[in-house]
Amino acid sequence: MSVLVTGGLGYIGSHTCVELMNSGVEVVVVDNLYNCKKSSYDRIKALVGKDFKFYECDIRDAEGLNEIFDKENISSVIHFAGLKAVGESVAKPLEYFDNNVNGTLVLLDVMRKHGCKKIVFSSSATVYGMNNVSPLTEDMEVGGVTNPYGRTKYMIECILKDLYTSDDEWSIVLLRYFNPIGAHKSGTMGEDPNGIPNNLMPYITQVAIGKREHLNVWGDDYDTPDGTGVRDYIHVVDLALGHLKAVEKAEKENGLFIYNLGTGVGYSVLDVVKAFEKASGQDIPYVIGPRRAGDIATCYSDPSKALNELGWKAERGIEEMCEDSWRWQSTNPNGYPD
Ligand code: NAD
Ligand code: UD1
Repeated sequence: MSVLVTGGLGYIGSHTCVELMNSGVEVVVVDNLYNCKKSSYDRIKALVGKDFKFYECDIRDAEGLNEIFDKENISSVIHFAGLKAVGESVAKPLEYFDNNVNGTLVLLDVMRKHGCKKIVFSSSATVYGMNNVSPLTEDMEVGGVTNPYGRTKYMIECILKDLYTSDDEWSIVLLRYFNPIGAHKSGTMGEDPNGIPNNLMPYITQVAIGKREHLNVWGDDYDTPDGTGVRDYIHVVDLALGHLKAVEKAEKENGLFIYNLGTGVGYSVLDVVKAFEKASGQDIPYVIGPRRAGDIATCYSDPSKALNELGWKAERGIEEMCEDSWRWQSTNPNGYPD
């Protein structure tokens, strides 16, 4: 029996594939290579020391997916494939709804036709919107999302909840990620954004290697200890291990389950800058800029439900996140090879 991993060559997917295979789980990957390089496949293989199936296929291609399900013995799906850039989603809403929402509908229909009713979905803390107060718990009202990317996550959560209501043979795990950063300890896998990074850590690492002059800190007048935004950064390997627990749960039990995957600890932008400087020995010059539209002051999780029900807890601290991000960036200044 295999786990189908959509988007499995991307940042979080690749780290999850490594942890799944290291635990003896068979993996089949589907990715259309839209936001990753094929060399990510070689890096995963080299790390686990064994081959696995990879299909270059778009999840909106029902025929392609059907063939994969016909050929492979798939028991469950971890669904990472999607577009994820907030700013781009404002400029290209149709592309985001098509890729993320329509893509998920096609995938779910193919799964149903093949009697595969177990799915772990990559949701985001963004579904908590602007009004809930941290620490965020899974029973808080979701919605109130301010951009098309976030709305795709909220809509897919709604679709999956309705699907479970219609048929309780499904096993559905919604994982709400907080802010994944860090990289594999080996330095051979990490985050490889296209163009100018939107997110904090890849921007910092590009300043550190001299690709960018300075970091722009988006606002220092928030109601936080130092005025800069506070987030719950989580090491990508801890996040990957959370997927292993989630898929084990889905394999064992029918139901609809929702978990935050975070550390429960908030760090400000300036805390991250300081931690990164210490871990890397590099100076990170920064300039205080205006607030970024759509940002909130503080966002961190209450991760206790995942601990109580999955036995999962993030183990890696901010120092390790920074060290591993730096090792990846400094040894792969141009990301994955073409
Ligand atoms: P990523 O872009 O590195 O990985 C996504 C992968 O999916 C890429 O390899 C891409 O080529 C593939 N893909 C995209 N559309 C596809 C399609 N239609 N068919 C087949 N493959 C497709 O992103 P990531 O950071 O690894 O994120 C994975 C998932 O987690 C996404 O759904 C994202 O929205 C969600 N998420 C990410 C974060 C984060 O900070 N990285 C936070 C919350 C949620
Ligand atoms: C962002 C997205 C969120 C998405 C998540 C993961 C927005 C508004 N939110 O979350 O929907 O799920 O990424 O992809 O884009 N910062 C700077 N300078 C920078 C970059 C960031 O000061 O160059 C600050 C931000 O203002 C924020 C913190 O760093 O306070 C973290 O930002 P980021 O890494 O972009 O994550 P989020 O905004 O939390």
